[in-house]
Amino acid sequence: MKPQDHGQWKTLMRLAARSIATPLATLSDEADRFEKFSFSAAGLLLDLSKQRLDQPILESLLALAQECGFEAGRRALLDGELVNTTEKRSALHTALRAPAGARPADVTEVGQRLVDLVNAVHSGAWRGATGRVITDIVHIGIGGSHLGPELVCEALTATPASPGSTHVHFVANLDAHALARVLAEVDPERTLFVIVSKSFSTLETRVNALSARSWLLERMADPDAVSAHFVAVTSNPQAAAAFGIPESNRFELWDWVGGRFSLWSAVGLPIMFSAGIHAFTRLLAGAQAMDAHFADAALEENLPLLMALTGIWNYNFLGVTNHAILPYCERLRLLPDYLQQLMMESNGKSVHLDGSTVSIHTMPIVWGGTGTNGQHAFHQLLHQGTRAFTADFILCAADEHQLSDHHRWLLANALGQSQAMMSGEAHADPHRAVAGNHATTTLVLPDLEPESIGALLALYEHTVFCQGLLWNINSFDQWGVELGKRLAEPIFKQLGGSSALTQDMPTRGLINYLRRFDE
Ligand code: F6P
Repeated sequence: MKPQDHGQWKTLMRLAARSIATPLATLSDEADRFEKFSFSAAGLLLDLSKQRLDQPILESLLALAQECGFEAGRRALLDGELVNTTEKRSALHTALRAPAGARPADVTEVGQRLVDLVNAVHSGAWRGATGRVITDIVHIGIGGSHLGPELVCEALTATPASPGSTHVHFVANLDAHALARVLAEVDPERTLFVIVSKSFSTLETRVNALSARSWLLERMADPDAVSAHFVAVTSNPQAAAAFGIPESNRFELWDWVGGRFSLWSAVGLPIMFSAGIHAFTRLLAGAQAMDAHFADAALEENLPLLMALTGIWNYNFLGVTNHAILPYCERLRLLPDYLQQLMMESNGKSVHLDGSTVSIHTMPIVWGGTGTNGQHAFHQLLHQGTRAFTADFILCAADEHQLSDHHRWLLANALGQSQAMMSGEAHADPHRAVAGNHATTTLVLPDLEPESIGALLALYEHTVFCQGLLWNINSFDQWGVELGKRLAEPIFKQLGGSSALTQDMPTRGLINYLRRFDE
């Protein structure tokens, strides 16, 4: 059924017409607004009091969730039903972080092998081909096989790493400068490459891994050096074997783990290397706490559902076309990149589950950057531009460094920005007036401990799932990315040769232009 065919959709259309006519700032005068519209779970605070919500709107949104089959959909996800209908797969990322006793046996087994590997590297028991201890890990992977691990590694840098922890580098981009920059920093005799690719066929990862292998072999006399310097995380063991990675160095991924939901699996190996095994375990525990809340909390207190409904309210009823992720936290610098994939690759869809065309909007453009840097870049447009937007402010209540003034200023700026976006300011000079009337959400983490990061990421994962459920789309496939990949294949050959071009005229023009530079 199309979402707009539900009775509550029509009710919400009426409520939206009324709501739009009321300046957001007038809502902010309600004395108990913060108490009524802020919620907490797993240590996180979700403040929706700066959103264009009131009790009838919230009740109608919750009723819409029920009409859309939220409870049955949530059960289907958590019970491992084939919610990824086009690929006939379940999406059981929650099983990766289930309490130890409830975890599938193969997850536990791979988890133990990862612990053994990390311990062997950290203790010096694992040696490179020339007998040197490993000091550097080079993680090669892209998309879901990169964004989550790098985000978490950066977020946990202030967490004391286990003794002997290794320096982790990431290579994702096909551009050879990404690989060259990392290779210039590492010693082949002391480097372990971790090739992370669920399919083991992704172009970027394949090309980077092949170049890394050539680089290593050119510098080592031993043609068998690959087995001491490469491990793989994949669900395609045959391809990893063909690359030269022995079974003992391969770590399994299952088809029921979607790429962008995979950081909790062996894909998170660099997190173990840099922050330590204990930190990774705590990360899983934080995500599990959010899973338990998502599974059991009543709808009206359920953070992922509330966040999802707030998004739908903004995107489908209030006309918002873009959503900014604004972490006021340097260590969450990569959160916008990670959430772009999670949200846009999951819910950037235009057909319903039954293949019929969607006739409402689904996911808007997601973008963002850290505060306060963004205040000196794009916030001018947010305050005085003509576009409607919403934003998530992500704050950390306590920080670990000793420079408390920095942290207080950081928090003050975040609150000042969302206040300005909500209320604006009248001014006699129109150039100085700020209209306000922009709804924002504030998420507060207690700290940047692994549990808090785990809970935050699981909150966003479930939010994405809830929105997909309400839009009646498949959040777990990504067919749209295939066409461009396929079209690049012949162009690769044509750029390096003189074969006839069959593309459209503008593309032919560009190929001909670029051919002149290809030697
Ligand atoms: O091209 C999109 C995509 O398939 C993502 O969904 C995925 O996270 C990424 O490529 C990497 O895929 P793989 O882990 O198979 O290399």
